[in-house]
Amino acid sequence: MAVARQMNASGINQGTSGNLSARIEGGLLITPTSLPYELMGPEDLVALDWQGQPLASAAMAEGPGRRPSSEWRLHADVLRLRPEIQAVVHCHSIRATALACHGRGIPSFHYMVAVAGGADIRCSGYATFGTGELSQLAVQALDGRLACLLGHHGQVALGTSPEQALRLAIEVETLAAMYLEASRLGEPPLLSQEEMQRVQQQMGKLLYGCGPATAPG
Ligand code: 13P
Repeated sequence: MAVARQMNASGINQGTSGNLSARIEGGLLITPTSLPYELMGPEDLVALDWQGQPLASAAMAEGPGRRPSSEWRLHADVLRLRPEIQAVVHCHSIRATALACHGRGIPSFHYMVAVAGGADIRCSGYATFGTGELSQLAVQALDGRLACLLGHHGQVALGTSPEQALRLAIEVETLAAMYLEASRLGEPPLLSQEEMQRVQQQMGKLLYGCGPATAPG
């Protein structure tokens, strides 16, 4: 719940757009549709199975509960198909969305692009929000990656926790801003595939992006 609120506080989201989910036993817990984050409480989160059917939860025992995010299918498909992922953030952050409106992903102009798991951050094709078609396009664009842009729509970031997924969504937005800024001088030169592989190895070796909690022994 705190992470859902931070989505707006961090500036990567506004109004009721964007949504957040986390894996639970038998399915996912997801933010409700069309409810401003500042009005949202833990009881408003919706528990669903992988087919989008309500899962019994303490909150729902007391009433009908909220309707799930219109993007529940995208969240459910990503969590179901990617067992290593625990949380999914979707938002309409301004600069990432600006690139996505041109159908442009983020290429290897900066080494930090590798935090999303590869040499680039892809942009999916466009499909109507809340559809299975959009979910399919997102799953494809996320293949081997932890983040992607959604054509004419926004971005998706994955993590092993809601906090990590949010950190990555903020990083994607920062990279999009840097890329747009660098592009003012012309299309920036790109780091090679080999260098991006070295960066990924270095990130793995230094546990880069895993947080400060565990110091090597
Ligand atoms: P929800 O309010 O249904 O989560 O939808 C917002 C959104 O971002 C749709 O893509």
